[in-house]
Amino acid sequence: MASLKAWLRPLWLRATPLRNAVLLVRIYLYDYRRFRRHYVPATARKTQQDELGAWLLQDKHRIEKGLSFAQVKPHYGQPILERLLHNLLHYQQQFGKDAYYYWGVGAFAAYQQHHQQQGIATAAWFDQLIAQLPAADLAHSTARQVGTQALPQHQLKPEQFAQFFNSRTSVRQFQAQQPVPQAVLEAIVAIALKTPSVCNRQHWKLHILSGAAKDQALALQNGNTGFGHDAPQVGIVTSSLRAFSLPAERAQAYTDGGMFAMSLLLAAHAHQVATCPLNWAASLKQDLELRKLQLINDDETVIMLIAFGYASPNCVIANSPRKPVADILIVHDGASQP
Ligand SMILES: Cc1cc2nc3c(=O)[nH]c(=O)nc-3n(C[C@H](O)[C@H](O)[C@H](O)COP(=O)(O)O)c2cc1C
Repeated sequence: MASLKAWLRPLWLRATPLRNAVLLVRIYLYDYRRFRRHYVPATARKTQQDELGAWLLQDKHRIEKGLSFAQVKPHYGQPILERLLHNLLHYQQQFGKDAYYYWGVGAFAAYQQHHQQQGIATAAWFDQLIAQLPAADLAHSTARQVGTQALPQHQLKPEQFAQFFNSRTSVRQFQAQQPVPQAVLEAIVAIALKTPSVCNRQHWKLHILSGAAKDQALALQNGNTGFGHDAPQVGIVTSSLRAFSLPAERAQAYTDGGMFAMSLLLAAHAHQVATCPLNWAASLKQDLELRKLQLINDDETVIMLIAFGYASPNCVIANSPRKPVADILIVHDGASQP
């Protein structure tokens, strides 16, 4: 038996590239099917609250963004405002008036206010659209959050930021009996929400696990051996594929989700909460097994896990030296190649 194994081993190793190629195709297909199942193209009949909400957010953003240009084009955005109004009326009828609704309405109010301030009469098509929104909704405090403001300033010196940023580190020694209180978790997320996202869609979720659920999730993760068991909480950072409307947005869940995760690490650090990002370089089986725990919705794509807790006294960390800047920064001279 042992000799048969020894004989087969080189063959097995030689077949590795082929096995990997097949796996790669299977994983791509898995991701393709998931994206296709959940993304919400413009032409889709949008019936669910999250589908419509995502469209309200992105169209509101398109209008709001236009107001922040150096030269604002008068009367811009007719197709967007028509679609926004259509979705707003539908949303309000189905789900009532919440922040998503008021933000959508706020795009109309801000657009109107801009034209008024510039002394430009709004177009007849716009007047017809805005007339369908109640004046009280246009004046609502949540609607008024939409618009523009002067560029905020800060007083932080670069070296102060560098000191804070460089003191964030992956921690692998936790006080197992000291979970991060709910209020602190909320404060961390409140900071991390300032993370930029495509069209400001903010499609993230942070699921905090403890106890058996945490152990089950960690058992499916490849990089927590030797320390994961001591982390009192583990977060699953996800992005909802429902926030995307174009095939070209296929990787946006990861870009925005990764940025959100970084913000969580920094916000946690600001609260003296220790973290260790944990890869979700998961096989098909691991991803499916995690879904079987029924902690996340099917439309959520896992970005990574994060161990949360408080560092043990006398905790040490890996030095993790960084590459020289010259290996990373490439400044092109501006001349383009033919
Ligand atoms: C997406 C991602 C996944 C990671 N996965 C793991 C992991 O599975 N296990 C682990 O011990 N560290 C993990 N890390 C932590 C890295 O090893 C660490 O960030 C890196 O070595 C730099 O060290 P620092 O975070 O202390 O600056 C991960 C980091 C990132 C950003």
